[in-house]
Amino acid sequence: MVKKLIPAAVAALLLASAPSFAADKLHWITLGDAAYKQLQKMAPQAIAKHSVMADNGAQSLADGEKAHLVQVSEKQMFALSHAVHHELKRCGGFMFHPTEAAGRAALAGRNNLLAVKASRPSYAITQQSTVNAVLPNMQASNIAQTINDLSNFVNRYYQTQGGVDASAWLMNKWKTIAGSRTDISVAQFTHASWKQKSVIVTINGTDNPNEIVVLGGHLDSINTSGTTETTRAPGADDDASGIATMTEVLRALVANGYKPRRTIKMMAYAAEEVGLRGSQEIANSFASSNANVVGVMQLDMTNYKGGANDIYLFTDYTDVQQTAFVKNLITTYLPGVTVGSDKCGYACSDHASWFNKGYFTTMPFESPMNSSNPYIHTVNDTFANSRNQADHALKFAKMAAAFAIELGSQGAAPPSGDRTETFSGSLARGASKSFGPFKLAANGTFKASTTGSGDIDLYVKKGGVPTTTSYSCKSDGSTSTETCSTTSTTNTDVYVLVYGYTAGNYNLTVTYKAQ
Ligand code: BES
Ligand code: ZN
Repeated sequence: MVKKLIPAAVAALLLASAPSFAADKLHWITLGDAAYKQLQKMAPQAIAKHSVMADNGAQSLADGEKAHLVQVSEKQMFALSHAVHHELKRCGGFMFHPTEAAGRAALAGRNNLLAVKASRPSYAITQQSTVNAVLPNMQASNIAQTINDLSNFVNRYYQTQGGVDASAWLMNKWKTIAGSRTDISVAQFTHASWKQKSVIVTINGTDNPNEIVVLGGHLDSINTSGTTETTRAPGADDDASGIATMTEVLRALVANGYKPRRTIKMMAYAAEEVGLRGSQEIANSFASSNANVVGVMQLDMTNYKGGANDIYLFTDYTDVQQTAFVKNLITTYLPGVTVGSDKCGYACSDHASWFNKGYFTTMPFESPMNSSNPYIHTVNDTFANSRNQADHALKFAKMAAAFAIELGSQGAAPPSGDRTETFSGSLARGASKSFGPFKLAANGTFKASTTGSGDIDLYVKKGGVPTTTSYSCKSDGSTSTETCSTTSTTNTDVYVLVYGYTAGNYNLTVTYKAQ
């Protein structure tokens, strides 16, 4: 990165803020090397309490950057981010922490995780028919509309009424899109320390609801010259574009009647611009309940085309394998869309909150860092200054839809076709145990069989749990070797019951054509 000297005007502003340092309330933040060096010029009093080599996901050690825990005033926090963006032409990312202990924990990042919570999914591309049905229906005009609607709030700052209202507006917009679908819910996520709420829409997985695919962007906007109730901060690109991109993904999935096997969640985070505060609270709460988030994609700035390529995949604070998968999705589904790569540094957006907790993250970006949108964080981050179009964001929406469908359609079980599942246990005389539902596909056969000791009987029923007197088929010979099968011309749920005619052990195998 090219470093420039701080111009006199900025230096004066920073000097002017220095005397109030002691009076201002101090906050704990963690930040990367570049931002820390800038901070030392601006406020030599701010000495790091603790520094470590950051785990930024880079493959080679030479790529490593250091991360530092410091205490700064609010003014310095914003002046810093502004100065790094404008003077160094790179992100001045930082994470806000409520306590020193929380700051130390975040600083250690992945290095001190006891276990990575996520299970690595398959990155095989298998959902061509669904993806190819959904993508052509996606429209730039819908994205443009949402960007304009969000930009029309005076600002969406985390502490203002505009920030609060934008959250309620988005919740209602997503509820309208979800319509009558009972498997989709939209809710706000309340944060104790500020008034803007995050918004989360959940599409429940049919088969593997505990495996979660996350798309995210940030709802808030900022004007780094100071944001009050009346300060304009349209944030059209940063990040109305990301929220609008996700909104179009949601609309297209619902319009197609798509039902994922895994759970898909789309998140509009509050308070990103003030240290990734909303996404940290959310990612921390998912991690502490051991949520199996299988993949996270961050959409932050998707509509300003600043470089030769279309989509730049960040290589730091992201997962190498998942990011290669996203590149593969682009090649497969978006012919003509070109891909580059870049790095955005410590804590540049909400994916870092998930990355720190051990989850797999990808951050596709609209431009290279050195020619990124110069208008962000000012009154001039408008739709007009993204050249009055949403064609660029549409590429990101299609990529994100492919990501949601490909990851969302998988699960522990294969997506469709022949499936075998086995169970074993023991039963007392007169006891029974039921299994299911097994999702039998139309015109498929469902077959169950047991082996074991004693005399175990087998019952199978379509549409409900069998009893010894109500079943679609039964097999009740004098040993535990039984077999019984049924067919259906429509998709149906099948259940199995094993019954201990005498006490015994059983091994149950079911094979069927899955929906
Ligand atoms: N959308 C930006 C991140 C960004 C800006 C990435 C330009 C690439 C190019 C984000 O909202 C932002 O402003 N991030 C801040 C850090 C945040 C914690 C205040 C940044 O990177 O300086
Ligand atoms: Zn920003």
